[in-house]
Amino acid sequence: MYDLSLKGDTRDCISVQDVTKLYGRTVALNKLSFNIPCGEKVALLGPNGAGKSTMLKLLVGLLIPDGGSVSIMGNDPSAVEAKKLIGYLPEDASPYLTLSVRENLEYIGSLRGVPELEDRVEMLLDDLTLRDNERAKVSKLSRGNRQKLSVALSIIHRPKIVLLDEPLNYLDIPTQEKVIAMFRELNATFLVSTHIMAIAERLTENAIVITRGRKVWDGTMTELRELGDPSEAIESIVTRLMTVA
Ligand SMILES: Nc1ncnc2c1ncn2[C@@H]1O[C@H](COP(=O)(O)OP(=O)(O)OP(=O)(O)O)[C@@H](O)[C@H]1O
Ligand SMILES: [Mg+2]
Repeated sequence: MYDLSLKGDTRDCISVQDVTKLYGRTVALNKLSFNIPCGEKVALLGPNGAGKSTMLKLLVGLLIPDGGSVSIMGNDPSAVEAKKLIGYLPEDASPYLTLSVRENLEYIGSLRGVPELEDRVEMLLDDLTLRDNERAKVSKLSRGNRQKLSVALSIIHRPKIVLLDEPLNYLDIPTQEKVIAMFRELNATFLVSTHIMAIAERLTENAIVITRGRKVWDGTMTELRELGDPSEAIESIVTRLMTVA
């Protein structure tokens, strides 16, 4: 039986070895390697076009590397075992537009085999203040409410490995706070792509910085801060790292 609890697990939940990804002649990722031990929370930082979203898509099996390998607790990302472990929030997340908020939660929840699904749906509707919109078709939702539903769908099955691409985009401030608390409660392994350092610092303790598909730095958030003067903004430190390569 596959152990989904991962409690006390010291193995790598995410392993990326020498990964190269091409789109035609564009080299999106260039021999990128990193490992994320189970339980760690890591921010994936990099300028526009650095390859962050491409990396996340490789980890969920939406793309296949042209070189190197990617594994989720030793599994190929396309394996059923990997899919059970992962929750993924894409940068352009779009729930089913012709279904209502509630129908999306019930449909994805049942596909995911969520136990006690009715209770879970009620909880997510309340926690994400989607109750007033539960019967609204997704196509009629505001951008922020659509993002709330996308967040709910990405964690409905309480995943142990969570991959987030700009997770707090469009969310109002109270909802950002709620979503941060919900992510923390999951007690999962996180890889989070974001341009907002305040979000990176609240959601993660470690960072990987990539530029033009290559890793230029990795370490803890504390080490990242220590690269600059105490008075220097963390955004300024990150900008320097991103422009070194
Ligand atoms: N479907 C695609 N077809 C062709 N090129 C692509 C495609 N998707 C991404 N690229 C290219 O791959 C590179 C990496 O893109 P990616 O979307 O992974 O960057 P990113 O770090 O997520 O950027 P952003 O911060 O803007 O979201 C870029 O040069 C981009 O133009
Ligand atoms: Mg992106």
